[in-house]
Amino acid sequence: MDLVPKMKNVSVLGAAGKMGSGILVLLLFEIARLKIGQKSKEDFVLNAIDVSQPALLNLLGYVRSQLEKHAEKNIVELREWYADNEKLVDNEEVIQQFVTDVMAMIQTSTRIETTYESKLIFEAIKEDKSLKVKLFSQIKQNNPSAWFLTNTSSIPIGEIEKEAGLNGNILGYHFYNPPVIQKLLEIIKCDNTGNELNDFAIALAKSMRKIIVPSKDVAGFIGNGHFMRDALYALNQAEKLAETEGWAKAFFIIDTISRDLLVRPMGIFQLIDYVGVDVTKFILNSMQPSFPNELLSHDVLNQLFDKEIKGGQYADGSQKDGIFKYQKGRITHVYDFDLEKYVSKEDIEMDCAAKLGELPTLKIYWKTIVRDKNKADYLLKFFKELHAIDSVGANLAKDYGKNSKAIGQMLVDTHVAESAADVNTVLETGFFHAYGPINDYF
Ligand SMILES: NC(=O)c1ccc[n+]([C@@H]2O[C@H](COP(=O)([O-])OP(=O)(O)OC[C@H]3O[C@@H](n4cnc5c(N)ncnc54)[C@H](O)[C@@H]3O)[C@@H](O)[C@H]2O)c1
Repeated sequence: MDLVPKMKNVSVLGAAGKMGSGILVLLLFEIARLKIGQKSKEDFVLNAIDVSQPALLNLLGYVRSQLEKHAEKNIVELREWYADNEKLVDNEEVIQQFVTDVMAMIQTSTRIETTYESKLIFEAIKEDKSLKVKLFSQIKQNNPSAWFLTNTSSIPIGEIEKEAGLNGNILGYHFYNPPVIQKLLEIIKCDNTGNELNDFAIALAKSMRKIIVPSKDVAGFIGNGHFMRDALYALNQAEKLAETEGWAKAFFIIDTISRDLLVRPMGIFQLIDYVGVDVTKFILNSMQPSFPNELLSHDVLNQLFDKEIKGGQYADGSQKDGIFKYQKGRITHVYDFDLEKYVSKEDIEMDCAAKLGELPTLKIYWKTIVRDKNKADYLLKFFKELHAIDSVGANLAKDYGKNSKAIGQMLVDTHVAESAADVNTVLETGFFHAYGPINDYF
């Protein structure tokens, strides 16, 4: 498919944000390939649009550094692209020419009107349906044929389509964080999404070398459909434990189980902190209306939010305080609801280990097995041993694994995912799990 006609003028809304900045860079790589690599005669413009002018200025530094990295990694290809430019002798000259040429295609803007010339509009503003609908309907009135690719992580695309009157010109294009590195892309067609837009979006995703997983247009899609329910399960388990152990130990125990005994890259509460207590709460809020028979909220999250304990990251990427406090990425303290303060991890660690009781003698760590070709054998041995143990820790882990599997299966049974393999791909790729939730281990 010829991507050029649609890629000549593209806008990214929310370009200075976490996701928007990455999407912008990915689009620049594509446009560079068309303009410089394939020597297209067309002019290309990529509009980086954000309400925050200072953030747009910072964005350009980030984009430049990403382009330099990309150029260094792909220097052989770039040398071919610039082979007819005799002035460029060494690699550094080629890299700098590439960065200059690509940077020249970016236009920054704080004005929504900038999108009126674009055929494609990528959107990564905050997770707020009414704001997305307001912006899209304004753009639609002034640019009727534009295609919208929204990065929403939970809002049904069909609702945005209907409320903004988009006549099928929208598709969910759900990148994972950080978009430049993360291979996964969930693609969500709503009932009205046009085939031409869908075909284009798939061709673009393939060109970006993404792993594409289609999801049905159901709030939360596959990724958050699993993660949010997994998080609620963990909060409920912690709440039960807190009755006897207190909140700090309860948080710590469930986090430990979900990381060490489920062999995941991080515990569930650390993941909530990473995503943001606030963002988790917003995603649940936006999913709730689609599931009237399911409680998609938790008092603990609401109370943490009210206490301004929100997690997320500082601009330098370091972790803000959430359910845990961190130093250099490591948990140092745990929030205790009963005491309304953080307690040191060291003060509770021994008690938590005693409470967990017997654990498998075979020690396996996510980091060491995740890329090991014998991963499945290690996991099988480990979980076999886990199943044979009857301790608090082992039983919590078994129940956790079974629940995660049930969530995955529910997503297949309700056709949110087309297959168990798709659910597993989302968790293995988007969440870096060593194995998918639908497995023979639980
Ligand atoms: N952060 C993640 O891990 C993640 C992953 C997948 C999807 N998403 C989704 O991506 C979207 C963006 O999330 P984020 O984490 O990048 O948020 P963010 O807060 O980092 O970025 C949002 C950006 O939008 C800008 N913005 C706000 N209102 C605007 C407006 N009216 N016009 C133009 N720009 C505006 C903000 O200034 C900010 O730069 C959300 O829908 C979110 O659910 C996030």
